[in-house]
Amino acid sequence: MKLLVINGPNLNMLGIREKNIYGAETYEDLKNLVEKTFAEKGIEGEIYQSNHEGDLVDRIQQAYFDGTNGIVINPAAYTHTSVAILDALKAVMLPAVEVHISDVKTREDFRQISYAGKACVKTIMGKGFQGYVEAIEYLVENYK
Ligand code: DQA
Repeated sequence: MKLLVINGPNLNMLGIREKNIYGAETYEDLKNLVEKTFAEKGIEGEIYQSNHEGDLVDRIQQAYFDGTNGIVINPAAYTHTSVAILDALKAVMLPAVEVHISDVKTREDFRQISYAGKACVKTIMGKGFQGYVEAIEYLVENYK
């Protein structure tokens, strides 16, 4: 099984940005946790981050052609704005799990819509980095 974990804008700033919301751990820490989880589950995987909407669309499309079996995606701010990411997820027809580090549903009104979430089989929010582990586990248990 091959999974792709995608992170959107400003998640490379974890450990620096709004630590009261996202915690003190860095993007490097998240990368290590995700890669450790792939190894423990005995699966292939890649973790990808971009600040650019089109690059995120390109990477999702690429997943259709490179043998990826499932996607974990935190589109970050593009969650609430991007029909292009929603359409890309629909286009590739791969099972996708939406992850948010913070508990988005208790935050501002403008964060209450998730476009990407409409193409996801599950959403996990408010569990910090552990949400990524749970998302990978969910895909392994249901789609391996
Ligand atoms: C986020 C929540 C989004 O609203 C925000 O724009 C982010 C991170 C999260 O992981 O909690 O950048 O996706």
